Amino acid sequence: MTETAPAPLPLSDSHPLSSGLTADAPLIRAARGERPETLPVWFMRQAGRSLPEYRELRKGIEMLDSCLRPELAAEITLQPVRRHGVDAAVFFSDIVVPLKLIGEAVDIVPGTGPVFENPVRTSREAHEFAARIRERISPELFAPITEAVALTVAELGSTPLIGFAGAPFTVAAYVVEGGPSKDHLRTRTLMQADPEAWGDLSGAIAELSAAFLEAQVRAGASIVQLFDSWAGSLSRDRYQQSIAASSGLALERVRALRTPGGERVRTIHFGVGTAELLPDMHAIGADVMGVDDRIALDEASRRLGGNVPLQGNVDPAVLGAGDAVLQAHVRDVVRRGNSAPAHILNLGHGVPPSADPAVLTGLVEFAHALPDGGRVE
Ligand code: CP3
Repeated sequence: MTETAPAPLPLSDSHPLSSGLTADAPLIRAARGERPETLPVWFMRQAGRSLPEYRELRKGIEMLDSCLRPELAAEITLQPVRRHGVDAAVFFSDIVVPLKLIGEAVDIVPGTGPVFENPVRTSREAHEFAARIRERISPELFAPITEAVALTVAELGSTPLIGFAGAPFTVAAYVVEGGPSKDHLRTRTLMQADPEAWGDLSGAIAELSAAFLEAQVRAGASIVQLFDSWAGSLSRDRYQQSIAASSGLALERVRALRTPGGERVRTIHFGVGTAELLPDMHAIGADVMGVDDRIALDEASRRLGGNVPLQGNVDPAVLGAGDAVLQAHVRDVVRRGNSAPAHILNLGHGVPPSADPAVLTGLVEFAHALPDGGRVE
């Protein structure tokens, strides 16, 4: 991480944070560490296969193609906001979209995930891949993203849009393995066998994720989330030595952005199975820590020193367990979330495709009806 703060980058006057449109939305207030009157709630993967209107729109269109069609991406982003009344939209895209934009041969195979035709296996390939990224990054690269974000925020009004990107480790885990893997063994071997090649590769991916995030924010996103979904396969030492610097780099540009009034853009950082890594993942420059459902929020807060806003962590499995079980669980999550300065309600991971959308809508209503924004004595 850098010792000196980066020079501030100005956001336009018309940005929804600058104009004040989203500046006091419950989600943005909570990310600043405040306790709004209603508990903000959104769901990771809220746009997607659990929604019949999504399945209808996607018919005959490949996943990555749908991400690059601005009107379609905007419409898919808006669907869950209309249906569930959530406190934020999350931009419909994918962590591998920036790599698709620079021309890498990547596909998202339904039921599997991202698959790369030419996985990076050797030090030489890692350096070549990094050089290709650095050569091809440019602001124009993100035109379809910028356009989709602008269309989306024009419809959202005072509801903030969350921009996102993959953290370097999680993206590299697909690039090196060639597809989804259980233990990311090749990726973890590369980072230890050749730290220099790993540093080059993860640093270049960080620059690409940083540019992707900045493009979304400049076009109107009010907050961002960095997904390091697979960081749970790393030890603390490994995270500190091989991951933290490049993940920090991915957030650095967004952290430098300021509205004309001096407000900064907040960042959320999330991983799965990362209970042991929470302080390190926070230290890279996150304002809010996303917590999965394998650790209770009060314990997560304790590990973070009690002063970090938290996001999470309803167990997705409980969505199918019936109203009584779900409501008792959500109450418990919210009660434990009270030990943090602020709380954004979410699932511990993405919405499962099998989730009943009516249950999600009910969960939003339940959360919004909690007295005093969910504060309990
Ligand atoms: O609603 C949202 O959260 C916004 C959209 C979003 C998608 N991918 C759309 C998507 C977000 C935030 C992501 C991030 C993402 N993509 C992550 C990090 C988040 C996480 O869940 O941990 C990861 C690891 C990926 C890579 C990826 N893309 C996977 C593992 C899959 C699932 C493959 C499958 O079919 O099970 C995808 C595909 C994907 N990304 C879908 C969606 C809606 C499903 C594709 C479809 O509808 O055909």
